[in-house]
Amino acid sequence: MSEPRAPKRLFIETYGCQMNVYDSERMRDVLGPLGYTVAEKPDDADLVILNTCHIREKATEKVYSEIGRLRAHKERRAAEGKGMTITIAGCVAQAEGEEIIRRAPEVDLVVGPQAYHKLPELIARVARKSGEQLATDFTAQEKFDRLPARAPDGVTAFLSIQEGCDKFCTFCVVPYTRGAEFSRPIADVLAEARALADKGVREITLLGQNVNAYHGGAAFTDLLSALAEIDTIARIRYMTSHPIETTDELIAMHGSEVKLMPYLHLPVQSGSDRILKAMNRKHDGAFYRDIISRVRAVRPDIALSTDFIVGFPGETEKEFEATMQLVNDLHFAAAFSFKYSSRPGTPAAAMVGQVSEDDKSRRLAVLQKRLFEQQTQFNASQVGRTLSVLVTGTGRRSGQKHGRSPYLQSVHFDDARARNGDIVEVHVTGSSQNSLSGEVSSLVRA
Ligand code: 5AD
Ligand code: SF4
Repeated sequence: MSEPRAPKRLFIETYGCQMNVYDSERMRDVLGPLGYTVAEKPDDADLVILNTCHIREKATEKVYSEIGRLRAHKERRAAEGKGMTITIAGCVAQAEGEEIIRRAPEVDLVVGPQAYHKLPELIARVARKSGEQLATDFTAQEKFDRLPARAPDGVTAFLSIQEGCDKFCTFCVVPYTRGAEFSRPIADVLAEARALADKGVREITLLGQNVNAYHGGAAFTDLLSALAEIDTIARIRYMTSHPIETTDELIAMHGSEVKLMPYLHLPVQSGSDRILKAMNRKHDGAFYRDIISRVRAVRPDIALSTDFIVGFPGETEKEFEATMQLVNDLHFAAAFSFKYSSRPGTPAAAMVGQVSEDDKSRRLAVLQKRLFEQQTQFNASQVGRTLSVLVTGTGRRSGQKHGRSPYLQSVHFDDARARNGDIVEVHVTGSSQNSLSGEVSSLVRA
């Protein structure tokens, strides 16, 4: 008889977008049957996966410095007679797989986003030292078919319905790292949603690089309606969307479907029409403003969120001012903003007029200051209102709970009765830049 073995420990570090968060959860699920339990730190893990992001240069650099740190742990463990398998997953793996293998000999395995269902086999092969190191070419459909439904650890879950991008914004690597737009068949999506609902999930966030371009045998709005019919799913969200895929039907649905939460993440990138054109965004400022005014006509309280890039090649001070004007006019509840980062191989990287680091930093600081003010204002505007809050967890003090407002704000309140998955009515009494606090006025059991 063999000795009982200690459970193997898995550490996953996730960088970048929600798609990666989702993929990391699925990697964890797919490796569970192999006996991997989750470790809090990489130091003593048998298997470390860095699920990487390639979208900006800084994100890529972080991967190499993290590999450097892991090398020390790997060497220490080797001295103790233990192994550490270092796996690089995600978009850096897809884009630079061979270079990683060359530059970082301590890396055992490189696996791209379409091959995660093969992880158990690949890990086993590494263990047997049988050589195969690269697994970056599979179709997106194969990946979705073979990964099991994720085991949710709470009452909110991501559900990936679409991957890849055909838009080719001139700054962006996604069309190269995640491939062509692909939508999962609606039957598969609904089956996964029902499985999540059966496990207690009450809020589903549909994910995709162009989620509203969904065309898996039904329109995106048909999918939303079908999801809304699942009784115990109380809330539906989606991200990320492209303005040119925002149909009249989708806008109307924000006014008619009560389960569709009043939150819209719709990246605009810039307020300057010349820059939007150079970015190949396929929309101008007026088009974006028109969508927002139509959404607000049917859902006046909607929380609007977006992405900005400052310092795109050739961006003048005046063009940056156009972005500030758009922010001042539209009022965002939340936003992500970035300095333009040149990505090798994208058209913008070869454009003349690259903006200096100083100018980019200054513009970003000005923009973020205003965005933070707007976020704080949006949160403050909830004080005095009563919001439906989905309970998602327990605070440190006894009786302390936290949850999510319809507008995706985190809300803190005291109520010993409320359990995860309940929806409680909270009278909001306080706000800050990042959260709300209040008192429970009623409770609806899940
Ligand atoms: N530089 C800076 N920001 C970028 N984004 C995508 N590519 C780049 C880049 N090269 C931002 C965009 C996008 C978000 C996910 O990341 O704002 O919407
Ligand atoms: Fe990148 Fe543009 Fe596609 Fe978004 S729409 S993933 S920014 S190419």
